[in-house]
Amino acid sequence: MQAGDLVIRNVLPHDLDECYAVEIYGFPPDEAASKETIKLRIDTFPQGFFVAEIGGRVIGMVNGGCTNKDDISAEELKRLIGHDPDGRNMVIFALAVLPEFQRQGIAGRLVGRFVEEARRNKKEKVFLMCKQHLIAYYEGMGFVHRGLSRSTHGGSQWHEMCFSITD
Ligand SMILES: CC(C)(COP(=O)(O)OP(=O)(O)OC[C@H]1O[C@@H](n2cnc3c(N)ncnc32)[C@H](O)[C@@H]1OP(=O)(O)O)[C@@H](O)C(=O)NCCC(=O)NCCS
Repeated sequence: MQAGDLVIRNVLPHDLDECYAVEIYGFPPDEAASKETIKLRIDTFPQGFFVAEIGGRVIGMVNGGCTNKDDISAEELKRLIGHDPDGRNMVIFALAVLPEFQRQGIAGRLVGRFVEEARRNKKEKVFLMCKQHLIAYYEGMGFVHRGLSRSTHGGSQWHEMCFSITD
């Protein structure tokens, strides 16, 4: 990959199939969102859904929503139930990059773009949930580990990470 080939942009409706492919590659079946859920996220809040594109192909994505709450463990938020575009916080639901494009900084660029969107909209915090092995990765980007989440999404243990936006 040449650095100049990578484009990070807001999702478009026709990206659905490619985004779903990225989701399926990235997450095991009991954690992956359905195609319907991905479509719902694209249709409802494209402002918080970014794709990484190389040569016209979507190879990574980050998506999320907004909430006024600090508790992000509610499963239904991932289906935008309780999502409030004016909410003071943003929440990342999914971040994934196709295996052959990993470890080149693309996920870092996607999270950076998501945080930039949060800052532009004067949000207070960006939250996400991750597994143990990625805590240090997100800490490296400036997220703070808040401890274990009450969520048992997909039967796993999840850690809450929080990035505070400061101007
Ligand atoms: C996690 C993920 C999005 C990272 O994408 P990426 O584009 O490779 O990330 P970057 O290139 O920006 O950063 C790479 C860094 O991520 C961390 N990392 C990635 N995968 C890791 C793993 N399995 N274990 C530990 N650290 C890991 C490392 O710090 C790595 O840096 P290194 O290559 O110097 O070791 C990608 O591995 C992925 O899609 N995984 C499957 C879906 C997933 O787990 N998403 C996270 C949900 S919270």
